[in-house]
Amino acid sequence: MSVSTTVPKAELHCHIEGAAPPSLVKRLAGQYGLDVSSVLDGSGKYLWTDFTTFLKAYDTASAVFKTPADYALLAETYFRMLAAEGAIYGEIFISPDHAQAAGLSYRSYVEGLATGMERAKNDTAIEGRMIAIGVRHFGASSVERVVQEVIGNPHPMVTGFGLAGDERSGHPANYSKAFRMAAEAGLGTTAHAGEFGGPDSIVAALEFLRVKRLGHGVRAIEDRDLVKRLADEDVVLEVCPGSNISLGVYTHLRFHPINMLRREGVKVTLNSDDPPFFGTTLGKEYASVAATFDWSHEDQMAVTRTAIEAAFCDEATRTRLLVRLDSANQTAEDN
Ligand code: ADE
Ligand code: ZN
Repeated sequence: MSVSTTVPKAELHCHIEGAAPPSLVKRLAGQYGLDVSSVLDGSGKYLWTDFTTFLKAYDTASAVFKTPADYALLAETYFRMLAAEGAIYGEIFISPDHAQAAGLSYRSYVEGLATGMERAKNDTAIEGRMIAIGVRHFGASSVERVVQEVIGNPHPMVTGFGLAGDERSGHPANYSKAFRMAAEAGLGTTAHAGEFGGPDSIVAALEFLRVKRLGHGVRAIEDRDLVKRLADEDVVLEVCPGSNISLGVYTHLRFHPINMLRREGVKVTLNSDDPPFFGTTLGKEYASVAATFDWSHEDQMAVTRTAIEAAFCDEATRTRLLVRLDSANQTAEDN
């Protein structure tokens, strides 16, 4: 299975701290005198055993990013990697809570990330946006503080607001105020649901958070009526198959519901979530899903189109991205 760079790709769901290459985490830890040996083994692999220990490892690794320059380097590194695999667009989840824990203000955090994204774009033409997330298990007031910070410090590249963290804690109703504030401020909204929670968690996210995009959402497959509702309401799923396999939501890719959901008319996109933690990349997600479910070049292009159509970007950018996608299609047909 090899990564095809001839399929233009787009990603809507990747946590930037979760995309940190182990080598970079190790280097910065050395520089700041921090001990990361509990979360990185000798060969440079992240150490965790389940969702709870994964979230802990994620927090520990995030703590090595302390300055705008550190975050610029992280974003530049990630967007260059995406572009090298043929991606033309990427949205990253940013976590102001993690930046704050590392001693960085929201503004410095965003400016650092934006600098790195611009550097990668100047070289590779990859376009990007940021979605600020509240961490569910930090509670409703923490999530509301994040949205207030985003609204109070507008940045052209921060175009969305989302909810991540441990889905097993806190009912979506607790976060409805934060999501109402985000929507009223014109931010695109998305929430993790239906990853560890069942269909009820998805229904609750739709009802209380009024989102049109869902992080994961794959466990909708357990409820036929919900699958139909997602298809009828054009809800877009940010599907992360490699993450779901790594975290044990499904035992093997061939048992993953992405293909069934797509066949039922649900809009699906492909994403890497926290790539080095799960031994994946966006390119590997496209390649492994295409190989497992026999998706053609056109099927993969259609998934990229869905992502661009659902992207939290302005219409001029969307049009430019769709033109790039169509011209790649044309080139493939000409060859
Ligand atoms: N934060 C980082 N990765 C996450 C995931 N897969 N689910 C929920 N919160 C996360
Ligand atoms: Zn996620």
